[in-house]
Amino acid sequence: MKKSIEIKTATHRYEAVAGKDIFEDEIAAAASRFPASSLFILMDENVSKHHRKQIEGAFIKTGRPFHIKLIPEGESSKSADLWLGCIDFLLSSGVTRNSPVFVIGGGVTGDLGGFAAASVMRGVPLYHIPTTVLAMVDSSIGGKTGINHEAGKNLVGAFYQPERVIADITFLDSLPRQEWTNGLSEILKYGAIKQGDIFEKAELFLHENPDDSHPDKLVEIISDCIRIKADIVQEDEFEGGIRAFLNFGHTFAHALEKACGYQKMSHGEAVYLGMLAAVELSRQFKADIVPDNLTKFRQLYHYRVSKEELSLKDLTEYMKFDKKRTNQHIRFVLLEDWQQPVLKEVESETLIHKAWQIAFDEL
Ligand SMILES: NC(=O)c1ccc[n+]([C@@H]2O[C@H](COP(=O)([O-])OP(=O)(O)OC[C@H]3O[C@@H](n4cnc5c(N)ncnc54)[C@H](O)[C@@H]3O)[C@@H](O)[C@H]2O)c1
Repeated sequence: MKKSIEIKTATHRYEAVAGKDIFEDEIAAAASRFPASSLFILMDENVSKHHRKQIEGAFIKTGRPFHIKLIPEGESSKSADLWLGCIDFLLSSGVTRNSPVFVIGGGVTGDLGGFAAASVMRGVPLYHIPTTVLAMVDSSIGGKTGINHEAGKNLVGAFYQPERVIADITFLDSLPRQEWTNGLSEILKYGAIKQGDIFEKAELFLHENPDDSHPDKLVEIISDCIRIKADIVQEDEFEGGIRAFLNFGHTFAHALEKACGYQKMSHGEAVYLGMLAAVELSRQFKADIVPDNLTKFRQLYHYRVSKEELSLKDLTEYMKFDKKRTNQHIRFVLLEDWQQPVLKEVESETLIHKAWQIAFDEL
């Protein structure tokens, strides 16, 4: 099974494909588009550990020279040092303006490798090959690439659209359970802001190995999510308007991650709690919704932090310094109803504290 989603931006038109066992054919097709060039691969080290044979096999079959650089796992790889390491690797192995760069990994490798492809020789053809659920449904779509700076996350980068996104669920067979749950949070976010049946479709995540037990359903939900993100990005490529809806739950989540020193809580866990808090805040502005769509997935989240370790006051302060803040108020994506997101500036700390309380109850 293979699904194709066309993505149009102001300057670009390309496809994202989702399927099972599509990698080899996709690499062959990509290589044939650039007959005069070597092929360049930036690959997550864990992906290499589990899938090196299959990946190299596909590139060997193209009959073309190829060069591989491994990217160490973890957020710290989104650094200026590693970005320069990628540029050095590409230039020293003979990249040209017409050389395709294949970036294979999760969002970290995608953001770093995408930025290297965007910047070397002012941009070379980029192929995103996401290997985490989050990267398949979110980070590989939309053209944001970049690295972190000591002043904050994702502060250096470029909008750079790929030639193609290739999401092959075969790679997910080695993905740790917690990474599935991280991706699920972003999937549930699409359910909340755009497409209600996502909540039912996502129930397949309650099974142990959805890639084995329900491959077609998994491909379907991934392609639904790609479509949703693509639609939003098409309308707002450079993030001036509705792209902000993709931050549903994230204003709370960023504060939680910061309060936990980015250690005791993963991004996906924080987003899940953040969405619960955002639903509660929406209810305080009279939205007639209950969070059952989210709480039915609660068993998948395993927190290593307790509410006693967190301070309401600190969390609210952190939100004030989130980069999405305007004036003195904190700006949230709330829901008027399910699938009806709105941007709202909230002044009352009492209301925000009440919303936090709901998230705390889940800890
Ligand atoms: N560009 C965007 O629009 C965008 C959107 C959302 C998030 N992001 C970024 O994405 C990053 C998070 O991405 P992520 O959640 O994919 O994390 P990640 O890239 O760190 O991957 C998570 C873990 O899974 C491992 N891994 C990856 N694929 C695997 C596989 N198939 N089998 C086994 N292990 C595998 C990685 O080595 C890592 O340890 C953050 O840096 C975030 O800022 C970017």
